[in-house]
Amino acid sequence: MRKPIIAGNWKMNKTHQEAVAFMEEVRGNVPSKNEVETVVCAPALFLKDMHDKAESSDVAVGAQTMHFEEGGAFTGEISPAALQDMGIAYSIIGHSERREMFNETDESVNKKVHAAFRHEITPIMCCGETLEERESSQTEQVVRTQIEKGFAGLSAEQAKQVVVAYEPIWAIGTGKSSSAEDANETCQTIRQVIAELYDEQTAEAVRIQYGGSVKPENINSYLAQEHIDGALVGGASLKTDAFLQLAEAGK
Ligand code: G3P
Repeated sequence: MRKPIIAGNWKMNKTHQEAVAFMEEVRGNVPSKNEVETVVCAPALFLKDMHDKAESSDVAVGAQTMHFEEGGAFTGEISPAALQDMGIAYSIIGHSERREMFNETDESVNKKVHAAFRHEITPIMCCGETLEERESSQTEQVVRTQIEKGFAGLSAEQAKQVVVAYEPIWAIGTGKSSSAEDANETCQTIRQVIAELYDEQTAEAVRIQYGGSVKPENINSYLAQEHIDGALVGGASLKTDAFLQLAEAGK
């Protein structure tokens, strides 16, 4: 039985004050982490104070990206060691916005996934196709390549701990969510690829989120699907009431 994981991705939104106030409001109201993992992936600047505010509650804090190197001359980047030192246990890796705007590749994504494991950070590894790729029936091939390259060199034990976020790029921030059935089909493909790389048992253990215009009104239809184990939510995760409803849906 896979434990659902609901994660918010705030992207470049909120001020420090708003971020801390958000945590204060949600920390006592999210469902138990024994039932559903709830994570807020916020701008790096706020992580420490949000984490402190969460205390030992059931909501966790995650980064939106990190570098794969331990440290050095990488102006503006965030090291995995620094995240670990602050107690940050999750990081989104390879979000499509980072692939598109910040030149992330399957190779750098793979290095980051390995770096995450070196620092006890659970990677939320994103994959997904563009509209053009979808319309030319390349979805399966695109996600297959992203998974194969992203998982390269991971042991089965590590693979089981990766959270894969399937986000069709055309559904992000557009209000045009994928149908739950279509999303499930691609998530099934992702699981199949992992089974081919490892074995059925490993594939069955991996949690796969859907992301792209998820909101309280539609999350249940995704979570009802066999291969969808959670959601990675952008816009709708910014408001406390919607965030709490999304977390509750994961129960
Ligand atoms: O990572 C979450 C994201 O890309 C989806 O954004 O605003 O469509 O929920 P949104």
